Amino acid sequence: MTSFPCVHHIEIGAVNGPQVVETLTSQFTFRVKARRQTELADQWLLLKENSRILVTSLKTPDLMLIKNDNFVINWATSSDQPSNTPTLPVKDSVFNVAFEVRNIDFCIKRLNQQAITFTKPLHTIHDSDGFIRTCTVKSCVGDIHHTLIERNGYSGVFLPGFTSVSDNESRNKSETDPMLEYFDHVALAVDMGTSMAVIGWYEKCFGMKRFLINSEEDKDKGLVLSTNDVGLRLRAMEYWKCSEVGLLAPEEEGAENRLSLVVAEGLSPVPGCQEENQITSWLRQHGGPGIQHLAFTSSDIKQAVRNLAKLGVPFAKPPPPAYYTKEGRLDDIKGVGENVDDLRTNGILIDTEAERLHESDCDKSIQMTYLLQIFTKPLLPSDPFFLEIIQRKGATGFGSGNIAALYRSIQAYIVGENNSKQNM
Ligand SMILES: [Fe+2]
Repeated sequence: MTSFPCVHHIEIGAVNGPQVVETLTSQFTFRVKARRQTELADQWLLLKENSRILVTSLKTPDLMLIKNDNFVINWATSSDQPSNTPTLPVKDSVFNVAFEVRNIDFCIKRLNQQAITFTKPLHTIHDSDGFIRTCTVKSCVGDIHHTLIERNGYSGVFLPGFTSVSDNESRNKSETDPMLEYFDHVALAVDMGTSMAVIGWYEKCFGMKRFLINSEEDKDKGLVLSTNDVGLRLRAMEYWKCSEVGLLAPEEEGAENRLSLVVAEGLSPVPGCQEENQITSWLRQHGGPGIQHLAFTSSDIKQAVRNLAKLGVPFAKPPPPAYYTKEGRLDDIKGVGENVDDLRTNGILIDTEAERLHESDCDKSIQMTYLLQIFTKPLLPSDPFFLEIIQRKGATGFGSGNIAALYRSIQAYIVGENNSKQNM
């Protein structure tokens, strides 16, 4: 039997549900496993390996119908719609990271000690497959919500009220496997100066544990990445299944039972720089803080990228050629024994980390670990949210070294262009 990780599902609010379902099934080979249709909303459960995505499309913004439905939220932020004139959302959003919890009463007790808004209060919901207990909490970040689910051995296809879709109906036509395995991390884009407060909120409310992304991260300042035209601050934390009862996850539960949340905020613009900070630009397009991207792990990213490209997935612009030279990451690529042509052809980025093998002062042997990553173009028709594919070779970071490496590569490209113009 498949064991699902602590993330029960991730929910996408879609203005055009069928269009988003089509993208996820045709380009990423998700399968529609369950449906729920009411006068309020259409919902599709999509499954890929151990990852569940729920797509919700609202049919009416009727407040009473929404209040009485345990599984439907209007994801449009309150600033977009005054409460006396509810309207349907006009933009898509990835707005709900739902966690499976072992003891929801314990979670609620903890949440009640904070100033928390419950979007949906605790309910017990039955059907012929058993019952679940669930509530939904509004995050302190933008339009994000978190549904907590205690399954109690519930044996239905997804949640009470969802009906199974037969395999024939949901079978994907493509035989190409994009080799995506499980959710690795979710990145939140937040307002400048707020990332520490966001980390504190998640620590207090969900018992998440902050960890330092790499040896360059300052405990107070976070990991500051700054070049002439890029400035962002990253902090990260981790959720695990047992956190609500204060236990460490046993090692055998494995990486798929953990989810890292990365919090990214923009830095103040460099004086004289015309370019908009990438986080600021994302916030503007999204309409405020929210889920910026979701990363899937793959155990063979090169094959995954080839297969996804065949399925029509558009990837973000590849790095400039200099990225794969001495000015960029050639030494790193060769150092870990990767083939530079393989990475260049597929537009894959690399980030290395030096890990000390022993803590003692006299044994300073270092092992290089690394990760490979690539980003898609925005996935949804009206939101800048995108996906990341990541293959970890021991590295635990998020590719922060690529910010500086990409900047150096672009600079090298510009210098090369200028030189060739002068020589013409
Ligand atoms: Fe990421």
